[in-house]
Amino acid sequence: MNAFDLTGKLAVVTGARRGIGRAMARALAEAGADVVGVSASLEESGSDVEKDVLAAGRTFEAIRTDFADPEAVRALGADLAGRERPVDILVNNAGTIRRAPATEHTDADWELVLQVNLSAQFAVTRAVGGAMVSRGQGKVIFTASLLSFQGGITVPGYTAAKHGVAGLTKALANEWAPHGVNVNAIAPGYIATDNTQALRDDPVRSKAILDRIPAGRWGDADDLAGATVFPASGAAAYMHGVVLPVDGGWLGR
Ligand SMILES: NC(=O)c1ccc[n+]([C@@H]2O[C@H](COP(=O)([O-])OP(=O)(O)OC[C@H]3O[C@@H](n4cnc5c(N)ncnc54)[C@H](OP(=O)(O)O)[C@@H]3O)[C@@H](O)[C@H]2O)c1
Repeated sequence: MNAFDLTGKLAVVTGARRGIGRAMARALAEAGADVVGVSASLEESGSDVEKDVLAAGRTFEAIRTDFADPEAVRALGADLAGRERPVDILVNNAGTIRRAPATEHTDADWELVLQVNLSAQFAVTRAVGGAMVSRGQGKVIFTASLLSFQGGITVPGYTAAKHGVAGLTKALANEWAPHGVNVNAIAPGYIATDNTQALRDDPVRSKAILDRIPAGRWGDADDLAGATVFPASGAAAYMHGVVLPVDGGWLGR
């Protein structure tokens, strides 16, 4: 028996169009899951993530939703929770970032980052997780961050949101573990995606970050693959409320 096998499962991955979410969707598909991908500008068909999932021999459905729009997020939650084929795995990965010192961090940026990275995650999970609780099974995985543990530099809204994600992971795990639903989070380290392009373009920040990573390199989105499949699978049946760093050793330093 392979406890990591996801054959027959349906996984929803938000922020699946590129970066970490795309790698997560591919990893889940390669482990056997069919995938519903969600993102702000996901192509109806022909996206890179769709090609990855189909290449793994699984089905793919694309949903375009802007997480900055609370009404659209509520509609997405209701759609996913009300389907005949239930969602077995929900990966709350969509996220955005705004970089500015606290004194220059505008209300608009603060509200956008909190809405997309935290409030939308809660709204979708309340709906889809509620259906999992009713069925007595399901896996919820949030994408947290090193900034769920640390303050970060000039990203106060993002840090507040990611601390919130860590707290929400534990709060939901407390409530839903007795109902057979596992809620956990993955905290990626510094991963080379569009989210971190500005850091990699800044020679000072880029070197300071690299110098602190014991593994001696930035992460690649595929470095999250195994850590995504694990909490999505039966192998993690007794794991609840964990925020799992996958960071090249950054936090242990
Ligand atoms: N890269 C890192 O080092 C790192 C480290 C820790 C945590 N994270 C977290 O990992 C997650 C994925 O980030 P990434 O690095 O893969 O970044 P990315 O390459 O910028 O991808 C972000 C994804 O989120 C989606 N998204 C952004 N705003 C959205 C909105 N308003 N509505 C719906 N979807 C939206 C994007 O959709 P479109 O493609 O359609 O625009 C995209 O698919 C985020 O939660 C991020 O905070 C990243």
